Amino acid sequence: MPEKNKKPARPPKSGAGGENKSDDLMEKIVSLCKRRGFVFQGSEIYGGLAGFYDYGHYGLALQNNIKNSWWKKFVDSRRDMYGINSSIIFNPKIWEASGHVAGFLGTTPEGKKFNEMFKTEVGTGEGAIVSYLRPETAQGMFVNFKNTVDTFHPKLPFGMAQIGKAFRNEIAPRDFLFRQREFEQMEIEYFVRKEDWEKYFEYWKGEMLDWMEEAGINMNKVHEMEIPDGERAHYSSRTIDFEFEYPFGQKELFGLAYRTDFDLKNHKLDYIDEEKAEKIIPHVIEPTFGVDRAILALLLSVYTEDEKNGEVRSYLKFKPNIAPVICAVSPLLKNKPELVEYANTKVYAPLKAEFGRVAWDDNGNIGKRYRRQDEIGTPFCIVVDFDTLTDNTVTVRDRDTGEQERVKVSELINFIKEKIS
Ligand code: GAP
Repeated sequence: MPEKNKKPARPPKSGAGGENKSDDLMEKIVSLCKRRGFVFQGSEIYGGLAGFYDYGHYGLALQNNIKNSWWKKFVDSRRDMYGINSSIIFNPKIWEASGHVAGFLGTTPEGKKFNEMFKTEVGTGEGAIVSYLRPETAQGMFVNFKNTVDTFHPKLPFGMAQIGKAFRNEIAPRDFLFRQREFEQMEIEYFVRKEDWEKYFEYWKGEMLDWMEEAGINMNKVHEMEIPDGERAHYSSRTIDFEFEYPFGQKELFGLAYRTDFDLKNHKLDYIDEEKAEKIIPHVIEPTFGVDRAILALLLSVYTEDEKNGEVRSYLKFKPNIAPVICAVSPLLKNKPELVEYANTKVYAPLKAEFGRVAWDDNGNIGKRYRRQDEIGTPFCIVVDFDTLTDNTVTVRDRDTGEQERVKVSELINFIKEKIS
């Protein structure tokens, strides 16, 4: 690029992109995501398709870590939650009963109403039926309510959880991962007695906030918004949106809805409450989380710039359990077989076997490797140098402080375990 077109060097900015100009920050995130293998435009080599994105190796690792942390908190560490993985295409009668055929409507710029569900045909010829790709994972829980009750005999209150794809023919997909046509949800339907709904609504509000904080979302940018009458989804009697301050405005991140007995009633499902010896239709509290919006809010929360050795560096300050890579291993020089051999067999192999999310990085000089790993958000970079060959220690560099310390190779796994616990 000719010198005159170069952007002037900017002063360093710190923390969650606080003072960055908004468009600038989105641009930086989008280009970092592509450059470092997090997210690519869908169908890119054919010019793309609006509203669709593909996750690369590190984006997928980030996605998996987010989903795992969610599943661990809301399913594995509880006694009252049952997982489900339902199909995406249902008998269309389900979407009629759920109110989505009549009520899942978007508005075109001309003010015309249209159904946002993607239509598809199941079967061929005269036997073909029209169905839809699910626009929410929630119905997969409701239609398996009876199976879950019959198999596991849960007592109220209890919940069902699902992580999976949802599809909406959004009229105006935009803002990177924020509004897509194919995205992922993590949803809970929590079944309670009618008289308890307010108590559990408050309870789930707290649980949702706790998880956001645990994942590393900047809570100063999260705001709770009560959705007024007339603006809620057709099934909801009360909804709170958790909104996030994105660079393009304060908009929905996650939601919490009181779906009453709307869905179970419409599917003609009920429950024998043994404690009260009566047949009832449980009421439902629904905490819902978009995986892609979680990723976008997280990227915006952890993106940081500071100055190192007179240069602006950008890095992703992920918590270690969420970071796509826990540590990267480098031989100081890639043309010294003794360093490469040591780094590969005595450092990389055992770390890889222990943590899985370990990168091998021998590309470019050490400064370049650090900058690359900073942008991926790798908390620790481990370098095998000539001292290693005699004293069996390596340098471990901390992403956030840039400080380095020497650690015995025999203690490396425990050292990292302690740091990330
Ligand atoms: N079952 C309730 C439900 O689907 P929603 O508010 O329409 O409620 C839930 O969607 C979550 O899914 C949202 O809070 C958001 O995180 C995510 N989401 C919704 N539409 C999206 C889209 N077009 N692109 C990306 N994420 C979306």
